[in-house]
Amino acid sequence: MVTKLTIVGAGAVGAAAAQWAVSRNSADEIVLIDVVEGVAEGKALDLSQAAPICGFNGRIWGSSDFKDCTESDVIIITAGLARKPGMTRDDLLAKNVQIIKSVTENCAQHAPNTCFVVVTNPIDAMVYTVFKVSGFARNKVVGMAGVLDSARYRTLIAKELGISPVSVTALVMGIHGDNMLPLTRLATAGAASVENLLSREKLDEIVKKTQHGGGEIVSLLKTGSAFSTPGISAVEMAESILKDQKKVLPCAAYLEGEYNISGVFLGVPVVLGKNGVERIIEFELTQSEKEALALSVEAVKKQVAATGI
Ligand code: LAC
Repeated sequence: MVTKLTIVGAGAVGAAAAQWAVSRNSADEIVLIDVVEGVAEGKALDLSQAAPICGFNGRIWGSSDFKDCTESDVIIITAGLARKPGMTRDDLLAKNVQIIKSVTENCAQHAPNTCFVVVTNPIDAMVYTVFKVSGFARNKVVGMAGVLDSARYRTLIAKELGISPVSVTALVMGIHGDNMLPLTRLATAGAASVENLLSREKLDEIVKKTQHGGGEIVSLLKTGSAFSTPGISAVEMAESILKDQKKVLPCAAYLEGEYNISGVFLGVPVVLGKNGVERIIEFELTQSEKEALALSVEAVKKQVAATGI
């Protein structure tokens, strides 16, 4: 079976996602779409010429026509504006909601059976917009953020312990914003709880740094936001769907009673397979974790209200 991945938006995150997808052989066909004529075509042509070196066996091409997303198994949406220094993710909302509405309408028309992976900020509100505008079932719409935030969290823990980040497991739940919830109780190095390896103070510091990880990069770059790890995070999710890997990944999923929350997209651990969000993994939270997650819900609801959807 031929797998097809479309990436909408050939800006920094979209181009990075395309590069990771080519280098990892994530799909047989990869299409990069951007409304600015020539940009997606040029970036895709450049990437296609990396194939003999990185061993990509598929086909990648660029387009400014949404017709080219036809029959995509997964569509990653990265279109929209990125943050500049001094901006919050919420500052992007008004502009990006218009872009996302039009992208969703176009994609849903040409690829009615696809699965959306939404990356555009503010993610938790944009993924809700895609869900409502497309009218797709909730398993077919998922937001990227937990994979990125958890990768940042794991990297910081590993650095503090002087070990490989691969040996750290950790989960960030909730909103992709300052109220995100990096769980220290469940973070492990090897199989050992990091709570036994690092002081409370150090862990609190790591949690804060994780929560502001995106902003730290924005203030260093000055002209945009992070793109490499956001790109690979989206690609890891897309691959799990395209290849039916059934990885458990923290993603923004639409909740209907899970964790006693309904009617919002929020970062929770989910199983991603050929049907998209195949299962939401639920586990008991402590009282303080429940309270922290409630702050995320409040913040997401505010964002969603501001979309006017
Ligand atoms: C970040 C942006 C993508 O966290 O939200 O880097």
